[in-house]
Amino acid sequence: MLSGVALITGAGGCGIGSAISRTFAKSGISKLILTDINEKTLKQTINLIKTNDNDNNNNNDNKIEILALNGDISDTKFIDYLFNEIKLKFGRLDYAINNAGISGNNQSTDKSNLNDFDKITNINFRSLWYCSKKELEIMKNQEFKNPTNERKQRGSIINIASQLGIVGRPDAPIYCASKSAVIGLTRCDAIDASPYQIRVNAICPGIIHTPMTDNSLRPTLAAGTKDMQKPMDLTESVNIAPMKRMGTPEEIADVVAFLSSEKASFVQGASWVVDGGYTIN
Ligand SMILES: NC(=O)c1ccc[n+]([C@@H]2O[C@H](COP(=O)([O-])OP(=O)(O)OC[C@H]3O[C@@H](n4cnc5c(N)ncnc54)[C@H](O)[C@@H]3O)[C@@H](O)[C@H]2O)c1
Repeated sequence: MLSGVALITGAGGCGIGSAISRTFAKSGISKLILTDINEKTLKQTINLIKTNDNDNNNNNDNKIEILALNGDISDTKFIDYLFNEIKLKFGRLDYAINNAGISGNNQSTDKSNLNDFDKITNINFRSLWYCSKKELEIMKNQEFKNPTNERKQRGSIINIASQLGIVGRPDAPIYCASKSAVIGLTRCDAIDASPYQIRVNAICPGIIHTPMTDNSLRPTLAAGTKDMQKPMDLTESVNIAPMKRMGTPEEIADVVAFLSSEKASFVQGASWVVDGGYTIN
């Protein structure tokens, strides 16, 4: 379904970014750029891809080239370095998945402070905007991969927003606003990128079983680190969705792969909810 070069941010561990990386690796991609702040969990994702690759390609054909760079996506110097490496090593970018994000501080506006605001919005929105800028600069200046295909695209960007970018919930104003901002950015970038046959869309996951929602899956925090993101009991929230269960990271990854592909060639500026019906209820 896919071919060429793909970038996935927040690719470490066992969350949505890792599932997207593994799904892309199985979908025909030849070059993957994976990045995460956590070097250890980034290696876990790479090991999973390699194990799967070996299982499926015993003759060592069709191996995927992986460029893994760990760093803080809210640091613009790291983003400059990341995109310089992409240009140097691969010279093009067919798919970008802006997935890195953190959950909120579980506080109302009056109880939140500026540090929480800056941290959440810097990672969830400011860095995503800066990555989008770099992705669009590369994509606008590259040739079509399949110039004769009538559904040809120069590139595709998927931003991972949230159902909480569409609806609110108690004690999540900063997180919800950061994800609404991602949806707004997606629409505007899609308008400006359309003349270049670049598609920009968002996915709004519902409650997905990842380290963000399940304490038992979380990597150990460094000693003395403030645990701003400790997941709450989500039973009540899960039951708001008519399907009454959490989604899996793979269920998000499959939609991301489809939406990135030329099969979704007429989907532009959309924010697809993948939420078991949470937002319709
Ligand atoms: N899990 C859910 O229920 C849910 C719902 C809606 C949206 N989302 C969104 O999906 C995306 C992935 O979340 P997830 O649930 O897989 O959680 P996760 O914690 O497993 O994944 C997030 C990844 O981003 C990385 N990351 C965090 N801060 C970073 C930084 N400063 N620089 C680089 N990498 C950083 C983490 O190390 C982690 O690997 C996020 O944007 C999140 O807001 C998740």
